Amino acid sequence: MTPQPTGYTRAQIILHWVIAALVIFQLIFGEDIVPAYRAFMKGTEPDSATLLPANIHIYIGLTILLLAVIRLALRFRHGVPPLPADENIVLQYIAKAAHIILYAAIFLMPVTGAVAWFLGIGSVGEIHEIGKPVIIIAVALHAVGALWQHFVARTDVLKRMLRPIA
Ligand code: HEM
Ligand code: HEM
Repeated sequence: MTPQPTGYTRAQIILHWVIAALVIFQLIFGEDIVPAYRAFMKGTEPDSATLLPANIHIYIGLTILLLAVIRLALRFRHGVPPLPADENIVLQYIAKAAHIILYAAIFLMPVTGAVAWFLGIGSVGEIHEIGKPVIIIAVALHAVGALWQHFVARTDVLKRMLRPIA
């Protein structure tokens, strides 16, 4: 069984915030890959100015996948702290659902993106695009929940994602 510690390790915390920053970057600048992708799909040579933003999107996306694998391995090894026990059961389910969607996103977005790009499968590219609003909603719920825990419920949930356990 995975252990249940009282907090996160330094590595887990660094990975959480680095992945969060990279995912938010991808959400903001994701459309920059579209012109190069459209050109490839039409069989035309993409304008060289569109290749750099496309490559940035691809390499950052693949980096997220690599970091996600390390992160999941650490989760199995160290475990994660439980949600506050006195929290409303519905809110606990929402928090858990957001975590599952966010974990799914950091694995499935790079995989669907790579299949769309390297194998040229447009329908998988459309699935990849649907990921954008889904992730935005999950991140918004997740961030509001974290801030609510900190400022309203006054639990240590946000603090434990900032300060590692000794
Ligand atoms: C794209 C951005 C983000 C992603 C993909 C993400 C992903 C995740 C995941 C999957 C977990 C669960 C950790 C686990 O159980 O292994 C988590 C925990 C957490 N996240 Fe995020 N997160 C993001 C952004 C944010 C932001 C913006 C905040 C703060 C405002 C935040 C605050 C937290 C906190 C406080 C926890 C710990 C929850 C707890 O210990 O119960 N995250 N995050
Ligand atoms: C967590 C990682 C990733 C995120 C969050 C992400 C996010 C996005 C976003 C927001 C868009 C724009 C969607 C729109 O036009 O509305 C996009 C498009 C695209 N991304 Fe990613 N991406 C990721 C990884 C990757 C990777 C690794 C690749 C390729 C190896 C890739 C290939 C593409 C392609 C080909 C498109 C254009 C799809 C189309 O127009 O049909 N993505 N991505």
